[in-house]
Amino acid sequence: MYLLELGGEDDAFAACEAKSAATDVRRIAPGLAVARGIVPERVRGLAYTHRASELLGRTDADLESAQALLEAASIDRDRDATVAVRATDVHGATGISTERAERELGQVLVDRGFSVDLEDPDHLLRVAFSDGRLEEPMNAAGEPAARDEADARGGDRAAVCALGWLEAESVRDFGTRAPTDKPFFQPGSMDPLLARAVANVAGARPGRTILDPMCGTGGVLVEAGLVGADVIGTDAQWKMANGARTNLEHFLDTDAPSPTGVDRGAWHVGRGDATRLPLADDAVDGVVFDAPYGRQSKIDTHRLEDLVAGALAEARRVGSRAVVVADRSWRTEARAAGWELVASFERRVHRSLTRYVLVLE
Ligand SMILES: C[S@@+](CC[C@H](N)C(=O)[O-])C[C@H]1O[C@@H](n2cnc3c(N)ncnc32)[C@H](O)[C@@H]1O
Repeated sequence: MYLLELGGEDDAFAACEAKSAATDVRRIAPGLAVARGIVPERVRGLAYTHRASELLGRTDADLESAQALLEAASIDRDRDATVAVRATDVHGATGISTERAERELGQVLVDRGFSVDLEDPDHLLRVAFSDGRLEEPMNAAGEPAARDEADARGGDRAAVCALGWLEAESVRDFGTRAPTDKPFFQPGSMDPLLARAVANVAGARPGRTILDPMCGTGGVLVEAGLVGADVIGTDAQWKMANGARTNLEHFLDTDAPSPTGVDRGAWHVGRGDATRLPLADDAVDGVVFDAPYGRQSKIDTHRLEDLVAGALAEARRVGSRAVVVADRSWRTEARAAGWELVASFERRVHRSLTRYVLVLE
């Protein structure tokens, strides 16, 4: 089993993304999930999971319980190896001193025959304390679903300390791709963290092809390409198609070593109408699009409803999985286009904008 340390504000969405790199993902407490198996190189490409660790055990959210667990745990690491402990208190909710936890749990490891190297340890023990309500997951219909493990304990509050040996960390280089720092920028560009997450949810990885039929500045395509997918983009505006090309060239056609360790994907971008794609049936594996927002985009040839309905139908023709990001839930249109809604997430970004993410199969 593995411990996943989630990031961002929406654990349900983070867990959904983590499923692209791990099997049998279940949330156990705010900011924490467990998984049966992981693919380390894919964990490196996740946006909303920071780390995956081989689970040593979990217990109550206090230091004494963590010590008892570590004293009793069977440890399969070589005693010649050096170790260090890093503790975190998710959202500061338990109030536990992480410094004290690191010191005292480090002492347990010393007592068990290990030597400590804080700078460059062979093995890093992650210790995560968390206490709080498990966020309400949604079922496919968008209603609150049965809760993961909280139900089994007869409540929706979870207080946990989980210990595990660090196995893989995600590469936190998103700041180098802020929309305004890209060679081509337009307002409305997607933040690289969200772009990476939706690309992963759509199935981006080596050997897969991901399409963004309304690619704008190419934010999603860049992130999908960086985790190894081949990417195809279209946009109705020449300016956008050309700008996306500039960005893809900059981030994907480079000889610099790949931060996630996988080769960057190939890319193709052209001007095109998302409701009439120049692609054969089943030409791609996954489709992602960020629908124009009603008040944001000027759309020459389509009413927004017709544009989204048409794009959903075309996506259905060329792919078998889609992720749609929008300022309203297009679930009725998605179902009408023949998609099944497998998950939906909504998050208030600010007073006048709620962002919806639909996962369709
Ligand atoms: C919200 S933006 C996408 C932003 C993009 N995700 C990014 O990171 O830059 C929506 C895009 O859809 C494009 N668009 C509007 N109507 C379209 C159509 N019929 N076919 C293709 N693209 C269209 C717009 O030109 C705009 O670039």
